[in-house]
Amino acid sequence: LSKACLSAVLAVPLAACGSNWQSALDVHGTSAISLKHLILLIVAVCSLVWMLVMVGLIWALWHRREGRPTPPQAGRERHMTIAVTGAVIVTVVIIGTFTVISFFATRGLSVAGQDDLTIRVRGLQWWWGLEYIGPDPALRFETANEIHIPVGRNVRLKLEGLDVIHSFWVPSLAGKQDLIPGRSNELVIRAEKAGVYRGQCAEYCGMQHAHMALLVIAESQENFDRWANAERNAAAQPVEEEAAAGMQTFLTKPCAACHTIRGTIAAGTTGPDLTHVGSRRTIAAGLFETTRGSLAAWIADPQTIKPGNNMPMVPLTPDELRAVSAYMASLK
Ligand code: CUA
Repeated sequence: LSKACLSAVLAVPLAACGSNWQSALDVHGTSAISLKHLILLIVAVCSLVWMLVMVGLIWALWHRREGRPTPPQAGRERHMTIAVTGAVIVTVVIIGTFTVISFFATRGLSVAGQDDLTIRVRGLQWWWGLEYIGPDPALRFETANEIHIPVGRNVRLKLEGLDVIHSFWVPSLAGKQDLIPGRSNELVIRAEKAGVYRGQCAEYCGMQHAHMALLVIAESQENFDRWANAERNAAAQPVEEEAAAGMQTFLTKPCAACHTIRGTIAAGTTGPDLTHVGSRRTIAAGLFETTRGSLAAWIADPQTIKPGNNMPMVPLTPDELRAVSAYMASLK
């Protein structure tokens, strides 16, 4: 089977999985490209083995001797021994070759230099905390659920689970790596093409595991620098009257106890940093596109939308709800 043909065969069952912006076969990252080659090789060899086994099975069924016990024959037994020994040797050689190839293909995937952009990624039920910590620790800043990276550069992710085990997986860019409480794992991602790549928690981590997505936005170095500089800034004071009222509500209600908005007294760390929440494409870990409407719906009743998550329903009047969502949307 040629690679193109195999891709087409695999694409049919996987087409049901939705658009190709989260696909291990639509790859735009250095690691993902070598993993895809590995997948295609293993599928091709396994398909060949499966076909040979099926041919052997059909042949055996065709030539079976019904009801007639086979008398033991020296020559026959020798043939059987040779066939079984041969099958065992071929199996061991194939598995051994896969092991060696996998080792070399994946060995270099988590090697980054000290000067690379470094992001601390924390997995929590059920969102992603992000802290840009390097290469210059003086320029660190926090955000959540949306990773921006420059194209063509190695980016080192330091992965930590803060409650249970999660797994970081952006199939178009790299393989999976677990986030385990009490230890720090590393994964290096590198996008070869600008774009928006969806990722998903890949380790069952509780009720809302399926709603623990993230976006990786790979952009030019210039756009990345502009974004990072804006992220480092504290939140701007709201200009509109409604947003200003929303800020007052936010700061006097329990919201500020769980969330940080740099530039205000809100300094909670239980929930995501909201300093520039209005600039992110999605809210609630990839659940909704960020709009005033979705922000209002989420704030009004987070437990119905994402049952079991840590955000409580804060009683707000309709005016307060509108004002708070206007304030959130203004945090660009
Ligand atoms: Cu986090 Cu599954």
